[in-house]
Amino acid sequence: MLDHSPSVPHRQRLLFLVAITAVMAAIGAVVPGMCMLTPTLSLFKHPTRLFSRAAKSPLRLRAFSSTAFIDTKTNQPDSIVVEKEVSKSINSLACPVCYDSLTWNAVPGLSVDTISGSTFQCSTCQKTYVGNQTHLDLTATGGAQSYGELMPASTELFRVPLISFLYERGWRQTFSVWGGFPGPEKEFELIKGFLKPVLGGNIIDASCASGLFSRLFAKSGLFSFVVALDYSENMLQQCYEFIQQEENFPKENFILVRADISRLPFVSSSVDAVHAGAALHCWPSPLAAVAEISRVLRPGGVFVATTYILDGGFSVIPFLSTVRQNVRQVSGSYIFLSERELEDLCRACGLVEFKCIRNGLFVMISATKPS
Ligand SMILES: C[S@@+](CC[C@H](N)C(=O)[O-])C[C@H]1O[C@@H](n2cnc3c(N)ncnc32)[C@H](O)[C@@H]1O
Ligand SMILES: *[C@@H]1O[C@H](CO)[C@@H](O)[C@H](O)[C@H]1NC(C)=O
Repeated sequence: MLDHSPSVPHRQRLLFLVAITAVMAAIGAVVPGMCMLTPTLSLFKHPTRLFSRAAKSPLRLRAFSSTAFIDTKTNQPDSIVVEKEVSKSINSLACPVCYDSLTWNAVPGLSVDTISGSTFQCSTCQKTYVGNQTHLDLTATGGAQSYGELMPASTELFRVPLISFLYERGWRQTFSVWGGFPGPEKEFELIKGFLKPVLGGNIIDASCASGLFSRLFAKSGLFSFVVALDYSENMLQQCYEFIQQEENFPKENFILVRADISRLPFVSSSVDAVHAGAALHCWPSPLAAVAEISRVLRPGGVFVATTYILDGGFSVIPFLSTVRQNVRQVSGSYIFLSERELEDLCRACGLVEFKCIRNGLFVMISATKPS
């Protein structure tokens, strides 16, 4: 592998890991007490709207070859938009260099199984990308022979095989212990609330890790196409294995893609929904990432993400501001933004209708590409 060049010894990654774990342990010691002072899930800002809408109008989705129809008891104008927008679901893969569409030889359609050995070619620069058994590498460095770049630690950490293995075997669960994350099932319900206007369309699970939510999106049948995207080849490998182990996993209209969040391999305005769970604080540049997400979203497309938040009571506690500085330096990421910063970030990237739900350090944000 390019990124395993001798100039970057394995020791360095382990050091990063130790540093980050130490910081997390430090936060873990301070946060639980503070979380008790913060509102619980039942006191979310817009709880009634989210839960009652979902409960009163159960969605039934019938998917046909390339178009999906939604049966819903309420006559929401949103649902009508969905029908018109979903047919292009898999025409959105793009070259990560030119951002122009890729042509591919996969027959008859894209799926976990057909990606292996399929060749994709950029219609502009002619560069080719080949799918291997587990995923399609659409990073700009994909296919480079001797050139490679190291990402900041917050990205590189997740490429370590052990971390990929442990992620859904205990690591993710700690987010609920010290971070106030409601847990996958509850988070999935909240996500569906935000994605209601785009249900039936395609979705990118950006920074999916081992596919915790990508798999839920696929199995829900609520989306016409699901792209599980991450920078870590080992996370994608793990996701692939989980899928293989599951009985009756809907492998059609589901692919695993390796890509950098700051260089998304999708045609502009071609995506209905982007989800990014617990990832914004890991991204080297949230600005570059959200700008990319905004670029690929079609008008009316929805971005929904969860992350940690640091403001209000938290931002005035000197210890935590120091932690924020240190984490930023060590990990190269922008862990812990404030609600104001998150809203400003979305607005700066051309997204509107910012909403958020909070619980302790946990926040779920949503914003929409203007239509
Ligand atoms: C904490 S995990 C989140 C996993 C999952 N979405 C969830 O909700 O549990 C963060 C993920 O962000 C990914 N990531 C970090 N930097 C990235 C980048 N530059 N581009 C794409 N993914 C990145 C990591 O590989 C890791 O899998
Ligand atoms: C697929 O490609 C990745 C690089 O993107 C590589 O690390 C992995 O080993 C490959 N998997 C297989 C099964 O060849």
